Amino acid sequence: MTAGTQRAAVLCGLGGALPATAVPNSALAAELDTTDEWIRTRTGIRQRFVIAPGEATSDLAVAAGRRVLESARKAAGADTEETAVDLVVLATSTPDHPCPATAPAVARRLGLTGVAAFDIGAVCTGFVYALATAASMITAGTARRALVIGADTFSTILDPADRTTRAIFGDGAGAVVLRAGDPAEPGALLGFDLGSDGAGEELITVPAGGSRQRSTATPPPERDRYFTMQGRAVFNEAVLSMSKSAETLLARIGWRGADLDRVVAHQANVRILRAVADQLGLPEDRLVINLDRVGNTVAGSIPLALADAAADGTLRPGDKVLLTGFGGGLTWGSAALRWPAPYVEPVA
Ligand code: UT7
Repeated sequence: MTAGTQRAAVLCGLGGALPATAVPNSALAAELDTTDEWIRTRTGIRQRFVIAPGEATSDLAVAAGRRVLESARKAAGADTEETAVDLVVLATSTPDHPCPATAPAVARRLGLTGVAAFDIGAVCTGFVYALATAASMITAGTARRALVIGADTFSTILDPADRTTRAIFGDGAGAVVLRAGDPAEPGALLGFDLGSDGAGEELITVPAGGSRQRSTATPPPERDRYFTMQGRAVFNEAVLSMSKSAETLLARIGWRGADLDRVVAHQANVRILRAVADQLGLPEDRLVINLDRVGNTVAGSIPLALADAAADGTLRPGDKVLLTGFGGGLTWGSAALRWPAPYVEPVA
């Protein structure tokens, strides 16, 4: 950072991790009352990945973290004090345990013992919230270099008999490294818009497992352990909230929607992405889409889409990029940056 300039958080590494097992639509159709055709036409998803028995969210978070730390080291060209991460923020709604947070265990397994580490729970908006939190800590001088991970394993909380949620959700993790830098640099995060509306709390929920039910004498019914979603209402809210949040941020930073090169929106449903592009007056080819390959990976969604798009050249250095997410809570959030040329470890 040049002396005398304002401090910014700058993206300098990117990577992702997926479980070994891919589940194509045909496998769900063999098990549930659904078809490949319904899933493809209603959601755009062809397959998703699921963890193996015994695996957990931290395993994917560590794999993504390893790749992104490696990419940041390669970009910096050396393993010096300048590449030392002093903050780990993990966005997840499927932590390894209800208590404690998963981030400290992830940090330890990455050899980052002693650094600040905590979880953020904003469901599918979790990565944008985590990015904003880490960026704010960097600009405030509380941290110098942050590992920001979005990781979820919704296969562990889905009702095996629910064809709708089984069709959409997949497991995965994506991560970025942020460093202190200059707002004029490519990769500098230029602004955020974050919001919530607790009135929609019940549209996306796992009723049991938290203090509300655990503090009662009667054990909750088994179905309350599973994730539930009111799909149609969530669909409408997702389009409205991501479009509004994106427009709010664009106005704040002085960008016009038409100038955006790429929009990386939460990968929930291709019809939602198209509607958001339409609201922003953008042609569909500005959308980054990888949900066909990975499904909706919740907090992993945006960083995994970034990693895929960076690896295949869809994101080019200098591109004006807008990230926007929506999820349970309800929550929403957007971020903007000019795309840098970070070394990207391919998603594996
Ligand atoms: O990640 C953040 C939050 N999540 C989202 O953003 C997801 C938002 N919601 C959606 O993507 C869509 O609402 C879904 C993909 C979940 C559902 O698609 P939809 O077009 O909104 O369907 P629907 O819920 O209105 O249901 C239409 C029909 C129903 O049958 P009936 O009542 O018309 O007979 C469903 O039972 O489609 C049926 N259906 C299915 N049929 C075959 C629902 N899931 C399936 C399925 N296969 N997998």
